[in-house]
Amino acid sequence: MSKNKFIAYENVFDESTLKGLFKLRAQGYYDEIKSPIKIGKESNVFSVTYKKEMRIVKVYRTAANFKKMYRYMHPDPRFARVRGTKLTVIYAWARKEYRNLLKAKKVGLNCPVPYAVHKNLVCMEFIGGSEPAKLLYQHKPKKPRVFYNQLIKEVKLLLKAKLVHADLSEFNILNFKEKPVLIDFSHAIDIRYPNYKSLLLRDMENLVRYFNKLGLKLDLDEEMARVLAVN
Ligand SMILES: Nc1ncnc2c1ncn2[C@@H]1O[C@H](COP(=O)(O)OP(=O)(O)OP(=O)(O)O)[C@@H](O)[C@H]1O
Ligand SMILES: [Mg+2]
Repeated sequence: MSKNKFIAYENVFDESTLKGLFKLRAQGYYDEIKSPIKIGKESNVFSVTYKKEMRIVKVYRTAANFKKMYRYMHPDPRFARVRGTKLTVIYAWARKEYRNLLKAKKVGLNCPVPYAVHKNLVCMEFIGGSEPAKLLYQHKPKKPRVFYNQLIKEVKLLLKAKLVHADLSEFNILNFKEKPVLIDFSHAIDIRYPNYKSLLLRDMENLVRYFNKLGLKLDLDEEMARVLAVN
């Protein structure tokens, strides 16, 4: 980070986040912070340079609503034992996103490759060209039916990895060159989670609602049966 940029970001990040960012940089995961992509309630997402490429660093805000995070995390057997301070929960939340991305990538999902997790920071693949890819809601697919079918394939692949995204909508799907890329995996849950089908149903409701708005005539029950079918 150049000196000026460091000064600019000093007010944005708390001290422990700054230390974490330095550590990730020292370990060679990125070279420079480039620009903010989204400053949100729960996280801030930055593009960073890495050699001649770009990467993403997602910074979970340490002031995030950790009670909600805890509610999502606790019934997931992988994180059932996470207790304690707010920071412990936020760090576990970042690890959860990282591990979910690893698992999803392993079955060949169209999602960012995760590179590192450290405290409240997740470093991952940058999706886009010279600019970050647009979200589905900002960039409607040219062929909604084709795009939707690809999405269904992704949801089925995720189930194969024993995961449900649990926050799937046009706001967490990038439209990159007319192909869906799923992002924001911190909510994603293991299908050993009790009642995972209700979360899958919510994801499918969002997709069906959005694509019906674009002119498809999808029936929620049929689409649920389609994703749950073995093939
Ligand atoms: N790997 C990526 N490549 C390009 N853009 C990304 C990437 N990851 C995130 N973004 C951009 O940053 C925005 C915020 O990312 P994301 O959805 O992961 O965080 P969030 O909505 O703040 O998550 P949470 O609600 O869990 O805090 C996205 O909507 C997208 O525009
Ligand atoms: Mg999001």
